[in-house]
Amino acid sequence: MEKLLIKGGNSLHGTINCSGAKNAALPMIAATILCNEKITLKNLPYLQDITTMFELLGSMGANILLDENMNFTISSNELLDTEARYELVKTMRASILVLGPLVAKYGKARIALPGGCAIGSRPVNFHLDALEQLGAKIELKNGYIEASAKELIGTSIKFDGITVTGTENIMMAACLAKGTTSLTNVAKEPEIEDLAEFLNEMGAKIKGAGTDKIIIEGVSELKGTTFSIPADRIEAATYLAAATVTQGNICIKGINPKRLKKVLDKLEESGAEISCDENSISLSMSKQKPKPVDITTAPFPEFPTDMQAQFSVINAIADGTSNIYETVFENRFMHIQELNRMGCDIEVNGNQAIVKGVKNLYGAEVMATDLRASASLILAGLCAEGQTIVDRIYHIDRGYERIEEKLNYLGADIIRLPS
Ligand code: EPU
Repeated sequence: MEKLLIKGGNSLHGTINCSGAKNAALPMIAATILCNEKITLKNLPYLQDITTMFELLGSMGANILLDENMNFTISSNELLDTEARYELVKTMRASILVLGPLVAKYGKARIALPGGCAIGSRPVNFHLDALEQLGAKIELKNGYIEASAKELIGTSIKFDGITVTGTENIMMAACLAKGTTSLTNVAKEPEIEDLAEFLNEMGAKIKGAGTDKIIIEGVSELKGTTFSIPADRIEAATYLAAATVTQGNICIKGINPKRLKKVLDKLEESGAEISCDENSISLSMSKQKPKPVDITTAPFPEFPTDMQAQFSVINAIADGTSNIYETVFENRFMHIQELNRMGCDIEVNGNQAIVKGVKNLYGAEVMATDLRASASLILAGLCAEGQTIVDRIYHIDRGYERIEEKLNYLGADIIRLPS
């Protein structure tokens, strides 16, 4: 297995471009199933999760072409198979995103039930309840979800809990349902708005994405389009956190700062100076030590769970004590044990982490457990004394495009060690 070797102590300086957002791209690739024509996606990030989604569509018979400008053209109009097998679903839970589109377009789907994962049990009951309310018949058999529907019929659905991919799944299914669907208690993440914009370009009639209520008027078919994947707000925020812990001065281009309001507020509270224009964010951290910042994760527009691990590192080297509450996933503190091996002083109590700032972190051999946990270990390595080796970095390659290249460009010293 490949590892990253990080020599700590360099501060980050310079300007980088933000890559396309994984969590915007995945539902869009799934949404191509709804369409009768070709879809071209630009600015797709080169990531393992994107490859896995293509592999899934390919296994069902989709035709995927890559041109010389790295744009992907996908024809999912005549799938031969409507099954997502366990081998693929177990490597990527977002495979569940094909459920809604398959039932809406082909009237059936057989999807392996995603199991638990490193950050929690992550059930899909909200997806299934909502799809049933649209008229699908759902059975769980031999570890698979078997869904079928002669036709989906629009109705009013209130989600039992806020779910990002659940909202996306049902929004996609409702595009081809008969009549009008109204969704409440929905996720309001920017990626929901991105998906609605993409579907509307394909001819869907969706209003209200990004607010508490989404209204979808069903249409009989969707047409082809070309769409560019928006920038990855979590990638941008991770680099800003890296500059904060290394007393750096960086600019990220291509990202809309409105998507990161809560994170930018917390970075400022920690002592960073931030300036933004419409499409870029600059951060400068001149203070030696960050100030401790309390954080409670919650669905958008609140502080994102996907930035909790990175802020654990900011707080770990801060001048004082802070509290982090994780309210979205029940087990998203796996990075803490590894951070403590690097000299952090963090105690976990249920969904709370009490972080006592320490003077120095020290390099160590550490193990990544999930995508954002790996990012936090890299950040810790960047500001630690000596060498850090991060193992199991296949987690990081699922969600950060060329991370060591981008960080080295900003002045870090990171080498990828071969297996
Ligand atoms: N939940 C249920 N039942 C459901 C669905 C969700 O109980 O049917 C619970 C989950 O167990 C969790 C909470 O609801 O406790 C929120 O889960 P959600 O469904 O919103 O998460 P997700 O859609 O599976 C997406 C992102 C995650 C991100 C979360 C929260 C994608 C592909 N994934 O996951 O991204 O953490 O929303 O914002 O969009 C990552 O990029 O590292 C990542 C994990």
